[in-house]
Amino acid sequence: MRVQIVEVGPRDGLQNESAIVPAAAKIALIHKLMAAGLKRIEVSSFVNPKWIPQLADADEVLQGINRSQGVMLSALVPNIRGLERARQSGLTEIALFMSASETHNQKNINKPIADTYPILREVAQEALAIGMKVRGYISTVFGCPYEGNVPLDNSRRVTEALLKMGVYEISLGDTIGVATPKQVHEVFGELVKDVTNERLAAHFHDTRGTGLANVAAALEEGIRIFDSSIGGLGGCPYAPGAAGNISTEDLVYMLHGMDYETGVDLEKLIEAGAYIGQQLGKELPSKVLRASLASKPAG
Ligand code: HMG
Ligand code: MG
Repeated sequence: MRVQIVEVGPRDGLQNESAIVPAAAKIALIHKLMAAGLKRIEVSSFVNPKWIPQLADADEVLQGINRSQGVMLSALVPNIRGLERARQSGLTEIALFMSASETHNQKNINKPIADTYPILREVAQEALAIGMKVRGYISTVFGCPYEGNVPLDNSRRVTEALLKMGVYEISLGDTIGVATPKQVHEVFGELVKDVTNERLAAHFHDTRGTGLANVAAALEEGIRIFDSSIGGLGGCPYAPGAAGNISTEDLVYMLHGMDYETGVDLEKLIEAGAYIGQQLGKELPSKVLRASLASKPAG
């Protein structure tokens, strides 16, 4: 059985690090992730650089990547300006993003949900017209830092709207890492009825230590696409307290142990995690990375 991994570390991970990683190190990281066998990598964001200065070098990063056949690179795009930048950088996939809760949407993209739809619709239309693939993210599906519980109907409505725009896949985000397996069963169990499992991805943050348990629950609901971040880097600048995404090393270790195929070489992945940890000058949260580094002889 195959599971697809969408590596979001260079985007979701680095957008929330206080240190600004130089473009050359980002490019080196992306090359290492490709060498580890990852086939889908979210490399940056074409958002307003004043909002996310950590990724202000998206254009430069894209220019420096040696493209490899069979690897789909993607980036977040919030508006037509972002789409134009993505097009100029040679990307053939973009990701749209919005929230299931009104307050998070407002804080994250500076407009109400109702005003977001026409903007994303136009971006999707233009992107599809030039042959790009368009992914969609929904944040705060499992809880909002400002509103608390988010009714499932909100996520249903946003899912429907994004699918109508032509997105091929929707990633449901536990932006602040509050979900537990029970809720994951409830949410995915319901949404797979409206949308087939091939078009749904799970995006878990490990803020409260439930990330991998949530993956196991989503697997039981038929989900086979997971977003994760090298080293467990990450968070969301507009979601206070959000810790990193689930770590790609931990995810791959668990999936391989459960006899799922990922196409990823864990040893090479660990090298990529060690590299970005060194660049940031800190120990990253990934448990598999820590265990591996601890078992290496010093020197
Ligand atoms: P705004 O400030 O309301 O935009 O931002 P605006 O349209 O009024 O433009 C203001 C200025 O920004 C203008 O420049 C624009 O040209 C410029 P000025 O005239 O003032 O010099 N601008 C841009 N420049 C470059 N590229 C662009 C762009 N757009 C505008 N694309 C906007 C609205 C949506 C752009 C802003 O709020 C924004 O960039 N937000 C992004 C926030 C973000 O990236 N958040 C994190 C990602 S979401 C996430 O992490 C969740 C996820 O992981 C899933 C999960 O965990 O749930 C995906
Ligand atoms: Mg995220």
